[in-house]
Amino acid sequence: MRHQWLSVAVLALSALVLAQGRYQIGTPLTEQEVQQWNIRPSILANGVGLPPGQGTVDEGAKVYTAHCASCHGATGEGGAFTRLVSEPFPITLEVDSVDFAVGNYWPYATTLFDYTRRAMPFATPGILSDSEVYAVVAYILYQNGVTDGSEPMNAQTLPRVQMPARTLLQLDPGTQKRFPWLKLP
Ligand code: HEC
Repeated sequence: MRHQWLSVAVLALSALVLAQGRYQIGTPLTEQEVQQWNIRPSILANGVGLPPGQGTVDEGAKVYTAHCASCHGATGEGGAFTRLVSEPFPITLEVDSVDFAVGNYWPYATTLFDYTRRAMPFATPGILSDSEVYAVVAYILYQNGVTDGSEPMNAQTLPRVQMPARTLLQLDPGTQKRFPWLKLP
């Protein structure tokens, strides 16, 4: 009988320890906080992993002004930080690397979604909804002249966007190398 009481007491104590967390330091994350940071799985170049939702260029312009313009310039031309919109398309040997941007250097539009959702806005990544990310991606692609803005961006349309820089990934027939003109340090 005494034994039984002891087991019950031990069980109760371990349950209490478990409930308080293994090391009893820190504060458990709320479900909302977990959602904000849990952005896996990554989106593959072909669009596998893109979530539901969609956004238009007009919606994206609003998202951009509110969350991106302070660092990347009023319309993506660059400011405190890197430019997102660039000319000419595509880049050549003469183009300075500060002018590399989405329209002339990024080979896949899907990466823009993945990167933005994962890392931007720089100080508060994760605050945009998936539809807001689609919208701001639609806006940036349109600003770069990559799309005509007539279609909203979503899991079907985004992987179909042909990026001008895609050809940069092809091997140079002469040297069988990528970026044959680029001198690496
Ligand atoms: C507080 C400043 C800040 C804000 C706001 C911000 N960014 Fe950025 N962004 C940065 C910095 C800094 C980098 C470079 C990060 C690095 O190289 O690691 C960057 C890089 C990028 C790049 C990669 C550019 C390239 O070609 O390498 C993209 C795309 C981008 N940001 C999109 C966005 C979008 C979209 C928003 C709004 C939703 C946004 N950013 C808001 C600071 C910011």
